[in-house]
Amino acid sequence: MDIEIKKAIDYLNYNISLEHSAIIQYLFHAYTIGEESIENELEEIAREEMKHLRMFAHAVVDLGGIPAIDKRASVFLEAPNAVELLQFDIDAEKMAIDEYSRQLKEISDKKVQRILERAINDETAHFKIFNDLQEKVKEKIAENGEKSVIDENKLKIVNLLNIYLQKQYEKILESLYQSFVTRHKNPHLSDELEQRAIDKMKHFGWVAEEVAEAGAKPNMDLPQIKKVEDEREIINYQIKDQQEFPKEVEEIAKNVEDRDLKWILERIAKREIHYTDLEEFLKRPETTDQDIAKVISALTVGSLFKKNQ
Ligand SMILES: [Fe+2]
Ligand SMILES: [Fe+2]
Repeated sequence: MDIEIKKAIDYLNYNISLEHSAIIQYLFHAYTIGEESIENELEEIAREEMKHLRMFAHAVVDLGGIPAIDKRASVFLEAPNAVELLQFDIDAEKMAIDEYSRQLKEISDKKVQRILERAINDETAHFKIFNDLQEKVKEKIAENGEKSVIDENKLKIVNLLNIYLQKQYEKILESLYQSFVTRHKNPHLSDELEQRAIDKMKHFGWVAEEVAEAGAKPNMDLPQIKKVEDEREIINYQIKDQQEFPKEVEEIAKNVEDRDLKWILERIAKREIHYTDLEEFLKRPETTDQDIAKVISALTVGSLFKKNQ
């Protein structure tokens, strides 16, 4: 591999790890900060970091590399108050701006340069937004009381939910990885996998918010992931997930007394569609990968949504 390309891939993969940590840090802060207006801003910025991660990962694949979706830079999750919490986010943006600006001078690939410029623009805006938020919070901080102590009963549920969160996080990363590596081989499948990852992120957010609302910390530790690249294996992985996962969620729902939380969990379980028939279909020798991608697309929630547009 050309040394310039190798250098660009290494930088881009480092950037993926930076974006990954920003997403987790901002989401964790959003769920735990306890101020609705700030929560929304943080979530919105996390969504933009997801777009950056996606841009960098696609650039890695386009240059012939493997996106380092299993790596994460340092995250700073907890602080005694919202001002200090937001300071972590300001620091993260500052660091990204410096890093991407430095890379811009070192990377000669025009397409990568454009991506970096786009990211620098966004991070500069984020930097300003976080500073403004911090100013606002400083004015209000005296009013903030301590969060209530969590009771025994809730603790059991919170532990179950945190196990769920870990598994979801793992599956989000695995599905994203699968989506990135199939981008050229099977764009259709790649899109569907991305839709599945996005759906899972949504569920992850719903549950993480519930955990934080119960006064506990959502588990956002970086999980170990399995990297599946073969299309058939990917499809088998996704089918297995759709078969097993709703049962696990329903099992947690059974233990829950809180009605809102129960409703959320049941909703998540129903959003996963069982399709055992597909196994039959896969075993037929005349089934092509294109057929499979078509069937997957017809059966996933993400695509149904797209077709209605
Ligand atoms: Fe970013
Ligand atoms: Fe940012």
